[in-house]
Amino acid sequence: FVIKSSLIEPDGGALVDLVVPGSLRAAKTAEAESMPKVGLTKIDLEWVHVLSEGWASPLRGFMREDEYLQSLHFNFYRMKDGTIVNMSLPIVLAIDDATKERIGSSSNVGLVAANGDLIGILRSIEIFKHHKEERIARTWGTTAPGLPYAEEVITPAGNWLIGGDLEVLKPIKYDDGLDHYRLSPKQLREEFDRRKADAVFAFQLRNPVHNGHALLMNDTRKRLLEMGFKNPILLLHPLGGFTKADDVPLDVRMQQHSKVLEDGVLDPETTIVSIFPSPMHYAGPTEVQWHAKARINAGANFYIVGRDPAGMGHPTEKRDLYDPDHGKKVLSMAPGLEKLNILPFRVAAYDTEAKKMAFFDPSRTEDFLFISGTKVRMVGFSRI
Ligand code: ADX
Repeated sequence: FVIKSSLIEPDGGALVDLVVPGSLRAAKTAEAESMPKVGLTKIDLEWVHVLSEGWASPLRGFMREDEYLQSLHFNFYRMKDGTIVNMSLPIVLAIDDATKERIGSSSNVGLVAANGDLIGILRSIEIFKHHKEERIARTWGTTAPGLPYAEEVITPAGNWLIGGDLEVLKPIKYDDGLDHYRLSPKQLREEFDRRKADAVFAFQLRNPVHNGHALLMNDTRKRLLEMGFKNPILLLHPLGGFTKADDVPLDVRMQQHSKVLEDGVLDPETTIVSIFPSPMHYAGPTEVQWHAKARINAGANFYIVGRDPAGMGHPTEKRDLYDPDHGKKVLSMAPGLEKLNILPFRVAAYDTEAKKMAFFDPSRTEDFLFISGTKVRMVGFSRI
């Protein structure tokens, strides 16, 4: 007798798992050895990880042209039965001219990491043009110089994209002492069931936790209890893939997150800390949809969003790249995310009257002190 999980259904109905069963590993490895090879960068490997565990369910591999064009132009794509699934960032693999030549008319390729390890197979491949300028313009809404992912990942990449069905030979590990934090959507769902969660609320972050973040998370918990949920569980879910050079490194952030739980700022009984393996684009309202969609697959039915999610300063002008309110507005209306409960929050700032972090009250602007992630870094986390 199996008690059916009450967690939100993964996108497309079933959670994708692209890691081949252990019993088939040797045969698949031998098969991959015989195929033309495609090299993976560190960031390509992060996307392989993301795809392999079903964060992008129902997507089963790097995008073919149909999925790519829908993602780029609509921020969603249609499954064969017409169902719309949100997919606001293209998950694609770029190859150069020489690799394309080498692949020739083969329909399957082997994927190889930079250290030479054979990682997986891409089957029934399709190769199509990588229009970089258009991809950058549509994903970020600008081609201004200085967009970290565009400059470090897209511009140096090849002029072709290769899509297909992915098979991964074994689970992706980083051996950086943090793998135990990298729970897959399946493992997270098991953990939420084990804790008998009746609501799961996800908090995406790429910065250290500050008291503004804590206010959002604790306020959400209060709201969920008021709504009648008995055991809401928080998924504190720092992003673990590519981040820009001046962001705080992952290992430091994980230490900081542990400290926040130790200090009781968040309750360890009702919080799960885990790493979200995706790379960061800093594409604001476009990217926040991906952040939310992936958490549906991990079992979250509530998603917290505050000021300027996935945003950054404009790379050449003295202003935010995106309107800080657009992320939450777009997320609340995004096609394919209707089943997710979006919890939008006003900006949190230091209230000098109440002497604590509070939601900004525009009627007494002069009482509030705005503390950016950068300032938090300068003065030290604990004092804010
Ligand atoms: S993000 O790139 O992951 O969005 P960050 O780690 O800074 O960046 O933010 C995590 C979440 O907290 C996002 O939902 C963001 O909107 C929200 N947030 C960050 N700072 C504030 C703030 N001062 N007030 C309200 N929400 C905030």
